[in-house]
Amino acid sequence: MSTGAERLRAGARRAWAELRPVLAAEAVAALGEAESDAFLARADLALYDVHEPLAILYGDAADALFARGLRAALAAAAERPAPLRRIDRRREIDPAWFQRSRTQGYVCYVDRFCGTLDRLPGRLDHLAGLGTTYLHLMPLLRPREGENDGGYAVADYRAVDPRLGTMADLEAVAAALHEREMVLCIDLVLNHTAREHPWARGWLAGDPSYAGFYTAFPDRTMPDAYDATIPEVFPDRAPGSFSWVPEARGGAGGWVWTTFWPYQWDLDYTNPEVTLAVLGEITWLANRGVDVFRMDAVPFMWKRLGTSCQNQPEGHSLLQLLHALTRLAAPGVVFKAEAIVSPDDLVAYLGGHDRYRPECELAYHNSLMVLLWSSLATQDVRLARQALRRMRPIPPAASWCTYVRGHDDIGWAVTDEDAAAVGLDGFGHRRFLNDFYAGRFAGSFARGALFQENEATGDARVSGSTASLCGIEDALDRDDPVALDAGVRRLLLLYSIVYAFGGIPLLYSGDELALRNDASYLEDPALAPDNRWMHRPPMDWAAAARATDPATLEGRVCTGIRRLGEVRRSLLALRGGVESAVVDTGSDAVLVWRRKHPRSGAFVGLANVSPQPQEVDADTVTGFGTFAWVHGSDGPLGVRDGRLTVPGLGFAWFAEP
Ligand code: GLC
Ligand code: GLC
Repeated sequence: MSTGAERLRAGARRAWAELRPVLAAEAVAALGEAESDAFLARADLALYDVHEPLAILYGDAADALFARGLRAALAAAAERPAPLRRIDRRREIDPAWFQRSRTQGYVCYVDRFCGTLDRLPGRLDHLAGLGTTYLHLMPLLRPREGENDGGYAVADYRAVDPRLGTMADLEAVAAALHEREMVLCIDLVLNHTAREHPWARGWLAGDPSYAGFYTAFPDRTMPDAYDATIPEVFPDRAPGSFSWVPEARGGAGGWVWTTFWPYQWDLDYTNPEVTLAVLGEITWLANRGVDVFRMDAVPFMWKRLGTSCQNQPEGHSLLQLLHALTRLAAPGVVFKAEAIVSPDDLVAYLGGHDRYRPECELAYHNSLMVLLWSSLATQDVRLARQALRRMRPIPPAASWCTYVRGHDDIGWAVTDEDAAAVGLDGFGHRRFLNDFYAGRFAGSFARGALFQENEATGDARVSGSTASLCGIEDALDRDDPVALDAGVRRLLLLYSIVYAFGGIPLLYSGDELALRNDASYLEDPALAPDNRWMHRPPMDWAAAARATDPATLEGRVCTGIRRLGEVRRSLLALRGGVESAVVDTGSDAVLVWRRKHPRSGAFVGLANVSPQPQEVDADTVTGFGTFAWVHGSDGPLGVRDGRLTVPGLGFAWFAEP
């Protein structure tokens, strides 16, 4: 161990030796004998996870902040309602609860799904029918008025958007979910607040309690220096990362840090008061019954001149700190990182550093998502195989969230290095994918649109719903049953991979009914400039009613997706905690992966991204020739002479008996 690390540890032990007796007495007073004992046991375990990040981030102030952080966690633990404490207890006994193969997600907007929160408990049958055990409700805290980036500009973390209901409604939803053994995930927007948030208003007004909560520069010197290396998120309407605010700096005006839209002001985490304030909001929400926090835009939280201002080591320390303190108060709560970054940077958000450090239990498998769409466009899985094999393994205590589509655009996070390894030019390939999914490539089945095309760099991302990107919209418009069949097969193919790759599969609302792009956002001036709204369609309950009829499009897709969940639940091998190994079985059009949980036999999944049947070797690499066929797009497939033919756009799952 380096002397630096040893010094950090010694500092932590010293601080704890001093604080522990005092805190122990406070804990007994606040929690009673038994609960305080558990709290202190957690603190003993989390000591380094709390103190080291504080020392790294805030130097000499670490000891004082350590005491404040632990006291804040104790206060939150004392306020934690009894039913949630019972859930905590169960999860401490079963820390891998979220890794079970029964864990399966659904993602929706409350207003678009059922109008208001109080109507949600009445819609749980639809979710239960799909096998949902994990419900991610898209941003629902009170946003600013007017444009709010789909709710990602929060004006009050302790209130629900009045259009959706009240905090009491949210608590009732959490309780209704818990009753059905489902969990609630909500977004925590922590890189920035709305400019209307009381912290921002206090800061602007010069209130000393909020001094240093945000950053403003007097002139363009520093903003220009930073902007030189920061990639733009929204180049079309929000170029650069700073916005001029005339009221800032006591009315002298200033360039405020705004990575995203000008009304989203980046919090300044170099100020520990910000960190403690955000911790207070997290634990308060956890005590309302939130089980999983989707930690929004975490790569951006720490800035460094001369870098992309993403994925900085201090940003990881910060997440580790918030995570450790939150779990002292609410040990059943789990963090999910939204880090839409290159594969090389992704695993760190799951705690995979040079040494494991608990950070987020979950993270979006953005790389897999991108590679699936890339494979479908090229009818070739070589790039996916290369990139997935090169990724570092994730810590066994963490899991991926695997997904096909979400509410954001698709950004082609394919590294030049991986592209080159399979003979592609990275830039050219990303451009091809944009053209393909925007429907500008001859012969493309996709009906997406470009998002944030940057003329200076040639970069762009893609919007569009799963069904439209898979060719279903195009086929319906052209009234082409053969193309429609191919579109449905593509959609189910992609979902078959995310349901069996390992990790929590997330079903994006509407995909179970193959809902197409929705152009209605163009009629709302607050939404029209952001075409991500095209793939956030309102739930179509009439279509949902058709889902029981297998002769309909909805019935076919919904039955297919429901079945994926059913089979998944029956397979121990699909539990988290182990990696999938991507293997080559002789066809460049078939993605093949193998996984094995220590308590199960092995599992092999195959997905043919080409419309042509493909022959693969069932023996040499995977040995699945002796396994049982458990599920697939085209009924039982037999292995003959060690070879298997996978139908065009088909999938098959095999498992050891
Ligand atoms: C996240 C959200 C995205 C939002 C951004 C800024 O990336 O997914 O929708 O625009 O954060 O909050
Ligand atoms: C987030 C993501 C980025 C996405 C953006 C807006 O910052 O990291 O990939 O494009 O939000 O949608």
